[in-house]
Amino acid sequence: MSAARNLLFYQTDPQPLPLIDQLSAAGWAVHLADTVPDAVELLNHQEIKVGLFQLDGTADCTDTLNQLHPMNGTFRQHVEWVALLPIDSLAAEPLRKCIADYFYDYHTLPADRDRLLFSLGHAYGMADMVRALTQQHPTIDDEQEDEMVGTSTSMQALFQQIRKVASVDAPVLITGESGTGKELAASAIHERSSRHEAPFVAVNCGALPASLIQSELFGHEKGAFTGAHERKIGFIEAAQGGTLFLDEIGDLPHELQINLLRFLQEGTIERVGSREKLYVDARIVAATHVDIDLAVKEKRFREDLYYRLNVLSLQIPPLRERGDDVSILAKYFFKKFSTDGSNRIKGFSDAAIKAMKNHEWPGNVRELINRVRRAMVMSDKRFITPADLGLDGRNDPSVKLMTLDEARSDAEAEAIRKCLRRTDNNISQAARNLGISRVTLYRLMEKYEIRVT
Ligand SMILES: Nc1ncnc2c1ncn2[C@@H]1O[C@H](COP(=O)(O)OP(=O)(O)OP(=O)(O)O)[C@@H](O)[C@H]1O
Ligand SMILES: [Mg+2]
Repeated sequence: MSAARNLLFYQTDPQPLPLIDQLSAAGWAVHLADTVPDAVELLNHQEIKVGLFQLDGTADCTDTLNQLHPMNGTFRQHVEWVALLPIDSLAAEPLRKCIADYFYDYHTLPADRDRLLFSLGHAYGMADMVRALTQQHPTIDDEQEDEMVGTSTSMQALFQQIRKVASVDAPVLITGESGTGKELAASAIHERSSRHEAPFVAVNCGALPASLIQSELFGHEKGAFTGAHERKIGFIEAAQGGTLFLDEIGDLPHELQINLLRFLQEGTIERVGSREKLYVDARIVAATHVDIDLAVKEKRFREDLYYRLNVLSLQIPPLRERGDDVSILAKYFFKKFSTDGSNRIKGFSDAAIKAMKNHEWPGNVRELINRVRRAMVMSDKRFITPADLGLDGRNDPSVKLMTLDEARSDAEAEAIRKCLRRTDNNISQAARNLGISRVTLYRLMEKYEIRVT
């Protein structure tokens, strides 16, 4: 005989039903629950795929169902629900709507034993199918600490590419919008490569001040320049035997592009202030969120370096193109941040899931993380609403309509900030690079409230 299949029987009606005996006789292991916490406890600790829910036909059960529904529940597995209800309760429209929204099937009391068993068997099969489809390789590697989650076709294809490129040593160029997971993908490549026991060194080429970038990347000898009191090992050398992740490679100043190219061609570096060639074995993974092809066309980025870096390429899809991954990721982060044990908030409302699916996600996964985190702090309801996520259309900056003037100002301020960063806040140099006078630069900095320290 095959093993009994678990069935959760939720009934607030205290009368024992002969039905339970019939279900047990037919091979179901029946677990009874008469409160939501008991039911959730069972769902979290037993392998339950089907639930039987007895409605008394009067009380509003939407709230209860929301907490036990797989769309909203914080338990990971899919469950199909079958309703049992008094026949006359079907006259009430709210109840009919509730059945249509939440249940796989329904039976009026007294239930016909054979029909009910048939229906439960089908619900079990359906839950199994949904689980197989949605839980197939939900992450690139279940044991990883920082999992990369995704069940969409595009993410599954990406996981496959990551596994492939991890097995070879050629440089990889990762492209994708801001917050899509470029760094996570780079570290996933490293973790799955033969270099995983050596360091993974991440360098943000856009964040390093121009005056320091050479010595940060290549290191320097003691006394190489004023202030170089000690020998310094650069990022490239620190990645010896491992992987060097060059983030925002498009921001690498032109004069350093040639040095990096030399390293890629010869595998050697020279620390600043030394002529000694040091052999460094580091795999290069670079990333950019800007259109690097355009930078090459406009001669801001060396073509020869581009070809050296872009031997293998990975493109991370934006979140808005990942279908159901949005809600899968939202639930994943919800679970991850639910560490305080209070379990005050149970999950997302249907409206919140819908709002997340409709949102454009200009900030991608990072934006999703921030919205979920904020909602979990701010929400005073049991289920997170679109407003808690800032997706009710009121506080959503991405739906704010911008005039052309506002867009120009944003771009102008951003260009100034970037230029100042790259010149290490050298006003004269920044003004020259921007093609404006120092006076104009000061005026614009005042206008946009940009301060240098
Ligand atoms: N598929 C995913 N599953 C789980 N977490 C993810 C996924 N993609 C991204 N993240 C998380 O989202 C955040 C942003 O990812 P990451 O820093 O790798 O993006 P990025 O593309 O490098 O962003 P930026 O362009 O801003 O540098 C990180 O906290 C990361 O762990
Ligand atoms: Mg990044």
